[in-house]
Amino acid sequence: MREQLEKLKNETLTSIKSAGNVELLQDIRVRMLGRKGELTALMKGLGALSADERPIVGQLVNNVRDEIESALEAALAAAREQVKAERLKSERIDVTLPGRHAASGSKHPVSLIIEEVCEIFAGLGFAVAEGPEIEHDWYNFEALNFPPEHPARDMQDTFFVENNLLLRTHTSPVQIRTMLKQKPPLRIIAPGTVYRCDSDATHSPMFHQIEGLMVDSGITFGDLKGILTVFTNQLFGQKTGVRLRPSFFPFTEPSAEVDIACVICGGKGCRVCKNSGWLEILGAGMVDPEVYRHVNYDAENISGFAFGMGIERIAMLKYGINDMRLLFENDVRFLRQF
Ligand code: DAH
Repeated sequence: MREQLEKLKNETLTSIKSAGNVELLQDIRVRMLGRKGELTALMKGLGALSADERPIVGQLVNNVRDEIESALEAALAAAREQVKAERLKSERIDVTLPGRHAASGSKHPVSLIIEEVCEIFAGLGFAVAEGPEIEHDWYNFEALNFPPEHPARDMQDTFFVENNLLLRTHTSPVQIRTMLKQKPPLRIIAPGTVYRCDSDATHSPMFHQIEGLMVDSGITFGDLKGILTVFTNQLFGQKTGVRLRPSFFPFTEPSAEVDIACVICGGKGCRVCKNSGWLEILGAGMVDPEVYRHVNYDAENISGFAFGMGIERIAMLKYGINDMRLLFENDVRFLRQF
């Protein structure tokens, strides 16, 4: 029995040494020390020994069991340590590697100009107003003093929808809608999409305008010029001011076309300003009494001015864009620059 024990011990210690992983070590434990294990079976055999031999062999079996157990513990601890080390190695993160950047979008230049213009006018006390893109003839033309058959309607290249509905050709109908809802004093700025049947390097069938309207008692042409000077100086960051030229719009009298000193050459004359030194950026004028009549305002006691500008044109001037179509092709290489 002594020999048997010695042999079992040596075999077990050898297999523990060569096991190398946690599962095999646990198998060995079950095989040797488990309830049906080999060593346990040997211990059960002790009963067959004589009373003299039993304590000696029992002591021997205990020693072998202790030895196996501590060898197993040590081997298991080493195997677990190794598993942990491998895991740490495979999950290692190199915190010095550069990160991956999330691609971020940028605002469209047309949106940027709308935001900037609205912000400047908000600083001058103007509130933002809006109106529908599918508009009634009455708001788009008639109430703005374009009677039916009026030749000025031709200038607008209208897309008609049906009956008296059309795609609004300008943001001026928002003036009418606002005045019908509100009494003076009134200061609004109305950005929006407009449509005209026209398409080339400087015209798009869909484009954007910003309309302005200020009505109160005692508003003069001088107020119009003052507000527009403050506005253009802020938007283009120059002190050259504005120039007004007489013009015609059915809904303003007198009417003017407004120029700023050329943002490219500073007024010296270049290709962009066609050597005039000036760039036209908006239409404006004093609201025609005929318009007040349509919205039930008392033209005798109030006065006001209106103006309207094309956003794409402003964006082209401000950012030096030479073809309007770039603004609508959505080429990210272009858009990313803003
Ligand atoms: N609605 C005009 C257009 O689209 C622009 C305009 C001119 C608006 C003069 C105005 C204005 O409010 O007073 O051509």
